[in-house]
Amino acid sequence: MNRTSHAPTGPTAPTGPTDEQAARERAVTDAVLAGFATSTDARYREVMTSLVEHLHGFVRDVRLSEAEWAQAIAFLRGCGDITTDTRQEFILLSDVLGLSMLTIGVNNPATGSGPGAATEATVFGPFFVEGSPETPLGGDVSQGAKGAPCWVEGSVTDTAGRPVAGARIEVWEADEDGFYDVQLDGGGTEGTMTGRGHLFSDADGSYRFWSVLPASYPIPDDGPVGDLLAAAGRSSYRPAHIHFMVTADGMRTLVTHVFVAGDPYLGSDAVFGVKDSLVLDFAEQPPGEAPEGRTVDGPWYRTRFDVVLAPEAPTTSTGGPTA
Ligand code: BEZ
Ligand code: FE
Repeated sequence: MNRTSHAPTGPTAPTGPTDEQAARERAVTDAVLAGFATSTDARYREVMTSLVEHLHGFVRDVRLSEAEWAQAIAFLRGCGDITTDTRQEFILLSDVLGLSMLTIGVNNPATGSGPGAATEATVFGPFFVEGSPETPLGGDVSQGAKGAPCWVEGSVTDTAGRPVAGARIEVWEADEDGFYDVQLDGGGTEGTMTGRGHLFSDADGSYRFWSVLPASYPIPDDGPVGDLLAAAGRSSYRPAHIHFMVTADGMRTLVTHVFVAGDPYLGSDAVFGVKDSLVLDFAEQPPGEAPEGRTVDGPWYRTRFDVVLAPEAPTTSTGGPTA
């Protein structure tokens, strides 16, 4: 029998398509590729050509059944059905497939390693809210969020170690029960924002604020993405973290988190967001005197997060005719 040359041979070899069948399948791919080849937008052509090659290659690789194709369509339909202005199931799907982290990695290239390397980026997540309250340096972003007090301090510098003054630092986090304010009744709108705020680094690049010790929590898992995780036996939990978004003139915007060392989910983050460099010691402190003249009744925590910003990428031409 005439088989494709790349198919393994031997008594237990899987049966691959015949040469004739492979040619028919290839003809479908080539016809679709030809449909995009006439586009005058070079980038669109490049992206669509690669997408079609990979999608068709996937169908051929796994010999996708029609029932599986229908299941995939129903899954995507379910993602659409549950998506609202505040629930974006497609981004969640991208997150649990590691697509979000891969795209972040491609677009935030490392600037080296060790001292002076830019702080690593991680996922944005769905719980950022525009218009968080401005918090003075040393102020409290918890605004009544439940949890043990936590002091966070650090600096913002560039990759040459120069302080970055006036950097805007947005922070947001879940409370001790694992809920963001937007997940609580009436929370997350102006006047009811808790566990979020923004501040500006000092003239020497330093910053500091009070917050609460974050807790681990599950990503929204009551939709198709939750079903996908369950089918794989994967946890929907994220390890405890505080989100940061740091912006400054001439610098690449940094979207990242700090994670709490020792968290049981560090090795199984549902969205693959953990980087070793972002795992920090949140050291427990005894009751008593604390920064900013506070006296704390129970245990409290402190951590230090020094942010290093990469320079903004130079804008490059995306093609078009040159003189
Ligand atoms: C978050 O950390 O807020 C998050 C990130 C990705 C998916 C869901 C939640
Ligand atoms: Fe989060």
